[in-house]
Amino acid sequence: MNYKLIDMNLFGDENGRLISIQQNSNCDFDIKRVFYIFDTKPGIVRGAHANRNSEFLLIAINGSCKVKIDDGKNVEIVELNSPHIALYLDKMLWKEMYDFSYNAILLVCTNTEYDEKEYIRNYQSYLEAVGNA
Ligand code: TYD
Repeated sequence: MNYKLIDMNLFGDENGRLISIQQNSNCDFDIKRVFYIFDTKPGIVRGAHANRNSEFLLIAINGSCKVKIDDGKNVEIVELNSPHIALYLDKMLWKEMYDFSYNAILLVCTNTEYDEKEYIRNYQSYLEAVGNA
């Protein structure tokens, strides 16, 4: 399953910290879009889709959430709870984000402009697309 956790380099000192996300450094793709997910209510699942072209870098810059990653054969669950841990997700992985803490802000960088046509939002269609229906 093509995902990885990246321990981001921390700059700064005891007075304050900074993390930089930079393509060709700690991000392998060209960043075209950044968005962030916040104010997610308890019990809500976000995501629940796969993307034909988008790769993602996810960072819980505040609070925490869980990410379920599914490639149609195996499922893994990752908890994001640190602003210096990034989760890289390749295209065509089914992902669900849930168990958001009340203060969670999930930062997402991706290599694409938003295009609804590259989303697969039906799990059965996803299994067919990865040849595992
Ligand atoms: P959606 O993908 O359903 O987000 P989530 O699963 O986190 O709830 O997107 C929610 C809405 O936001 C949907 O109408 C599409 C829109 N949207 C954009 O316009 N641009 C974007 O970059 C993203 C990620 C979503």
